[in-house]
Amino acid sequence: MTNEDSEEGLIEIHGEEDFAAMRAAGRLAADLLDYITPFVVPGARTGDLDDMCDAFTRERGAVSAPLGYRGYPRATCMSINHVVCHGIPGDKVLEEGDIVNIDVTPKLNGWHGDSSRMFFVGGKTSLKARRLVEITYECLMLGIQQVRPGATLGDIGHVIQQHAEAARFSVVRDFCGHGTGQTFHTQPSVLHYGHKGEGAVLKKGMIFTIEPMINAGKYDIKVLSDGWTAVTKDKSLSAQFEHTIGVTETGCEIFTKSAKGFDCPPYIAGAEG
Ligand code: MF3
Ligand code: CO
Ligand code: CO
Repeated sequence: MTNEDSEEGLIEIHGEEDFAAMRAAGRLAADLLDYITPFVVPGARTGDLDDMCDAFTRERGAVSAPLGYRGYPRATCMSINHVVCHGIPGDKVLEEGDIVNIDVTPKLNGWHGDSSRMFFVGGKTSLKARRLVEITYECLMLGIQQVRPGATLGDIGHVIQQHAEAARFSVVRDFCGHGTGQTFHTQPSVLHYGHKGEGAVLKKGMIFTIEPMINAGKYDIKVLSDGWTAVTKDKSLSAQFEHTIGVTETGCEIFTKSAKGFDCPPYIAGAEG
């Protein structure tokens, strides 16, 4: 979601039944990303991969939440190389050496499982691209490690910003994580930069995404004339990972974890993609 709505407002607290529903929706998002993984290869047309994702989602009794959301035309987002997020699948074909983020949000029984991962296309990903992807994954997991009752949203943003900037990368400011559940995007806004101890205090039962977008160059972005595709202004590479999580008594539950261990590429041992 865009980082335009101001802090606070009411953050919904969910009970065990809601967590069970989110477990199922999150598992479906993870299974969907697992399913598409072997097809993310040089020569694949993004529009075809998107159709496959939508078909898989329907077969499992869910709908693709992005389709028709604020006029968005497709079931998933596919963001290649310098595309930061909200890349629209279509006639674009994946090429050897590309890095691509696939972001899916199946809505199952009314609940949203929102997750994205990076993929290496083929076996010749540059060292710089691999490092960007690895650091971005670490940013997500470091952010998740902060989550427990009593911690703040600023604790999450702070560790992500620290880790990205220590690697001389930058954190995108214009998009953020978000509360989710029966509403796709709701409070809170989860910024991926910030200061320890600041922002809303986390409570057991909150459900939200963390989805850092990290650029190899500067953090500035622009949105193309299609009204969706966000790209880095300096054309540098950008990477993103996203999980949907729920705050528990002692920490958090990740609803969108891969059952296959496809957390960060390369997904096939000995290969890059
Ligand atoms: N899944 C994206 C997110 O992480 C939202 C995509 S909305 C769309 O919040 F309309 F662009 F699909
Ligand atoms: Co999201
Ligand atoms: Co998403």
